[in-house]
Amino acid sequence: MPLSAASDLGSNQQTSQSAAADASCMFRCIGCDATAPTAAQDFRCAHCGNLLEITSPAWTSSAVQADILKSTWRARRSSNEALDLSGVWRYRELLPNPALAQHVVTLREGNTPLYELPRCARLTGVPRLFAKHQGLNPTGSFKDTGMTVAATFARQAGCNWVACASTGNTSASMAAYAARAGMRSLVLVPEGKISWSKLSQALDYGALTCQLRTDFDGCLQLLQQLVKRAPVYQLNSINPFRLEGQKTQAIELLEQLDWQPPDHIIVPGGNLGNSSAIGKALLEMLEIGLISSLPKLSVIQAEGANALVRTVRETDGKRLIKVQPETRATAIRIGNPASWEKAVKVIRATGGTCEEVSEFEIAQAKAEIGAEGIGCEPASAVTLAGLKKFVRQGFVQREERVVLILTGNLLKDPDFTMEFHKGELPSEELNTLQSASLAKLRHPPIVLDATLDAVVGTLEQAEKI
Ligand code: F0G
Repeated sequence: MPLSAASDLGSNQQTSQSAAADASCMFRCIGCDATAPTAAQDFRCAHCGNLLEITSPAWTSSAVQADILKSTWRARRSSNEALDLSGVWRYRELLPNPALAQHVVTLREGNTPLYELPRCARLTGVPRLFAKHQGLNPTGSFKDTGMTVAATFARQAGCNWVACASTGNTSASMAAYAARAGMRSLVLVPEGKISWSKLSQALDYGALTCQLRTDFDGCLQLLQQLVKRAPVYQLNSINPFRLEGQKTQAIELLEQLDWQPPDHIIVPGGNLGNSSAIGKALLEMLEIGLISSLPKLSVIQAEGANALVRTVRETDGKRLIKVQPETRATAIRIGNPASWEKAVKVIRATGGTCEEVSEFEIAQAKAEIGAEGIGCEPASAVTLAGLKKFVRQGFVQREERVVLILTGNLLKDPDFTMEFHKGELPSEELNTLQSASLAKLRHPPIVLDATLDAVVGTLEQAEKI
């Protein structure tokens, strides 16, 4: 069935405060610029096969008054309407909207905190350092911000089945939103390469879960073929509705910063949908006049899954270099990122860059974020590791304001955390300096006899450290 991007929220759903008149959305090809009101199941351009994005004339400067948008969004924070309680649909003037507000599938996503990171600020020498913690979304990752929009349009299109390939978080999120919407969900994940805590979410939310003997890229390739054969609606980030919802991470961030753009936003890169979405939001906000300058958007990958980094360095961003991915940050264990061209465009447009970090640097940064009392999953920690490199390279100046996007929750990968604290991670050879720096961050559990003396003795030992 063709999927429409038409954006015509019924007039009975619009509040009198609505700042921008709703208008029709279109799918636009990122390769040949062809536009169409509908898209096929594979969400690829009918002319050149490239990926699609969603555009709307309602999101341009002539149609929108930035001040009215800001006050409308602020006012919605004190509303108890379902759409206003969502940290995604609150910004609906910059989203495709369904025909009826009742179609919206929401778990009150978004609304995530922006934390200061005082200890990491001291470590990096960048005093104005913040983390936008997307791991505090309903299913524990940023995926929920996109899934609410894509699931809404799937429900509106009358889909019975939704499907995704995943390194774990997408599947957890999709399964939850499908369950809320009364749709069935099919999950394709690489066998043995995703954390149990993510897989367990998909099971609990009722997904039909297939562990395929391949990697994420193999799962995604299979899904692309499946959507042409079976009536399933794909909810990977190739689906541009996902990226529209994910834009709101950046909108909410800027609102939290009173619309004063930071100098840098640093985000992990896997399939590269999220960096593309954040970049799209930044460019749209600049166009509309919500912000007056662009933060530099930079993407960090694991050394073992560095397709974007190699693509930019070795082909100047012109031809994708695929890699055989390997990293313990399993969420970004991806070698053939679907949205690489979108990511290259927004990195360039914002003056950002990309960088890779080692398994040691990821493990260290994750423990340092944990020591702040907020924690994150390994893939998110690449942002702090990348920032340290940027400071050393001079790309980030000490007086600049920097925001790290923490994409997933600490509890998403407890095995990594346990192995780290027990001294089993990272598994690579470390030099003395590296070992010493990690030793300070490790807090292994101590097994004791259940006596007062044993506990007091341990406390006294700890006092000396
Ligand atoms: N961080 C986390 C925690 C993720 O789960 C992902 C992607 C990324 C970063 C990278 O985002 O792919 O948009 O560049 N996880 C996907 C999944 C692929 O299936 O859950 P990206």
